Parts: sequence; C-alpha cells; structure tokens
Amino acid sequence: MLCLGIESSCDDTGLALVNDNKIISSLLASQADCHAIFGGVVPELASREHNRWLGPLLDALLTEAGLALADIEAIAVARGPGLLGSLLSGIAFAKGLALSLDLPLIGVNHLHAHLLAAGLGQDLIFPGLGLVISGGHTELYRMESPSEFKRLGRSLDDAAGEAFDKIGKAIGLSYPAGKIIDELAQAGDPSVHKLPLAYTHNENLDFSFSGLKTAALKLAAEIGLLEDNCKARKDFCAALNSAIADTLCLKLERGLEAQPDIKAIYVAGGVAANSLVRSKIQALAKSRQIRLLMPDLPLCMDNGAMIAFAGALLRQAGYSHGLDLEATPRGRPIPDDMLSRAFGFYI
Ligand code: KG4
Ligand code: ZN
Repeated sequence: MLCLGIESSCDDTGLALVNDNKIISSLLASQADCHAIFGGVVPELASREHNRWLGPLLDALLTEAGLALADIEAIAVARGPGLLGSLLSGIAFAKGLALSLDLPLIGVNHLHAHLLAAGLGQDLIFPGLGLVISGGHTELYRMESPSEFKRLGRSLDDAAGEAFDKIGKAIGLSYPAGKIIDELAQAGDPSVHKLPLAYTHNENLDFSFSGLKTAALKLAAEIGLLEDNCKARKDFCAALNSAIADTLCLKLERGLEAQPDIKAIYVAGGVAANSLVRSKIQALAKSRQIRLLMPDLPLCMDNGAMIAFAGALLRQAGYSHGLDLEATPRGRPIPDDMLSRAFGFYI
C-alpha cells in the first residue's frame, strides 16, 4: 500500500511516501534556523512555516518518486502530541487531500510512530519495550502490536532532549543543543565531574530531569565555561551525556525486569541519535541477550516516513479516521477513536 505520511507536530515539515516497509521518497523542511535566533521553537512561526512548505514539499516528493497523486492509496498524518497550531497545519492539509482524492485518512500517534520506525527495513518484534526520547517527550511503553501501546512511564517535567537543549542554551550553545553537546562530549572526560542520575531512587518507571538541570547549571556556574570549545566545556558535556545515558539505561533495565516476556527493546526519537545513549543501550541489550530495534539515524528525528509507515500498519490492521479527526496537543491524552473495519465504519 502506497501511503503518504505527513509530519508537522513541531518544527520540521516532513513528507514521505512509503510502500510496505520501504521508503519510496522522503523530504524534510527543517525550521531549525528560523527558531535558532529565539533559542527555542516559536509556535506561531512554526505553523506558518508548515503552511508555507506543505504544498511545495508534496510536489517535490511526487516528482522525486516519479509518481502522481492518483498513485497514493492512503493519507497518514501526525495527530499529536505536539504543538496545536503545527499539528493543525498538517491535519488540515491531510484532510484536504483525503477528501479531494477520496482516500482513507489515518491519524497517527507521533510517539508510537517514532518507535515503529524501526520496522522500516527490518521485521518488528512483539511484545516490545519502547523508549521514546525526543525534544518534547521521554516515555516508556509496552508494545503489544503496531496498534496496542501501554504507557509504563513518562517524564514528570522536562524531556531528555529538552534537558540537553535547556542546559546547552544556558552554557551558550545554539538551539537545538543535543547534537552539539554530544559532539563536544566526544573530546571530553566523563570522570572529571559527576552529575546526578535524577529521580532514580524510587521504584517507578517515570523520569524527571529537572534535578539534573539544576545540578548541571550549578556546576556550569562553578567551573565557568566561558571559552568556546575549552576543555572545561568538553568535560562538562561528557558528564551530562553520561548522566542522561545512565538514567535512561537504568529505567530501561527496570522496565525489562518488570516485563519479563519482552522480546525486543525499541529506542527512538531525536536523543536516540546520541552516541553514548546508543552505545550504552546496545551494551545493555547485548548483556541481556535481547533484540534491540533502533531506527537509522535520520529516522530517529522527526520525519514523514515514520508517519507513513505507522499509518500503513494501522490501515492494514483495519483502522482509519473520519474527517472529524482532531489535533491533540502535548499534555492531553490521545483519544482511542480509530474507526474499525470490524464495526462496518471502514471508509
Ligand atoms: O524527535 P525529535 O527530532 O523532535 C521531537 O519530537 O522533539 O528530537 C529533537 C531532540 C532535540 O531536543 C535535540 O537536541 C535532540 O533531539 N538531539 C540530540 C541529539 N540529536 C538530536 N540529543 C542528544 N544527542 C544527540 N546526538
Ligand atoms: Zn518527535
């Protein structure tokens, strides 16, 4: 099934065509430069940029794939969580296409799509333990099938990527700072400073990075990180990388202990591109002899292919949405409102 995926939940406009588990074509218009001068995403600006890019990207996508609108068999769109205005831009565009082309519309949970992206190129394995680590979310799921996810834990405050970005901003790095911190950390010594594994002295699977943020800002003020690329800054970044990677591994391990029948670990979202997070989770999976499914680096970030793939899986399972599909912003539960073929609603 040739499925068009539309991602516009935050500051990247991503469009892709996916057939079964193969990416036919995928394009991304990043807004990072627009928001960098403000040190974070400006919601109003983000939705305007999505509206500016969605049409031209679709034309370019079809040209690149050598296909026409008439070849598309389903339209999948990120329905949340995310920024309300950004989501609405993509959803309105998707509804217009579904209506005019008489195609099924599938609203996709952005976080589930991040995890399912591992299936682009390899078989999915269930039940899985899925960790989403992005700029807006840090969540742990039990994955029963492509359409059945149970949330086991979440961040009570900042997401892992948000912690990287906010601490990076405080030490003078540009937005988003996660990748820059990761690069600086490569040349740093993680043993010079010790940052806390925040919110780990408990029994649960939730996360909290605000304690780490406070400790990191205090340390930064103590050691002074004035010069670009100085040794102190690299050691600081190495300690930060290490604290976040160790916290994530600790909760993943706890999740595995609580769910002994898990057959695979899934890790996705922008922070899954972090070199230390990747290597530590790889080592954890190896020591526990459990399969690790992580998307390729470009598929860890927001992209249209993960939405198209998750949408196609839902469609194959017999689900779709009506044109009354709503955007669900961050902080609100995503409704369980898929229309099922089993109830005769199949559009
Ligand atoms: O999944 P994503 O592209 O967008 C959201 O849905 O949030 O994730 C973006 C986040 C940003 O916070 C960014 O700083 C972080 O992922 N990030 C990284 C790395 N690459 C991106 N964080 C740590 N290390 C990296 N290499
Ligand atoms: Zn994301």
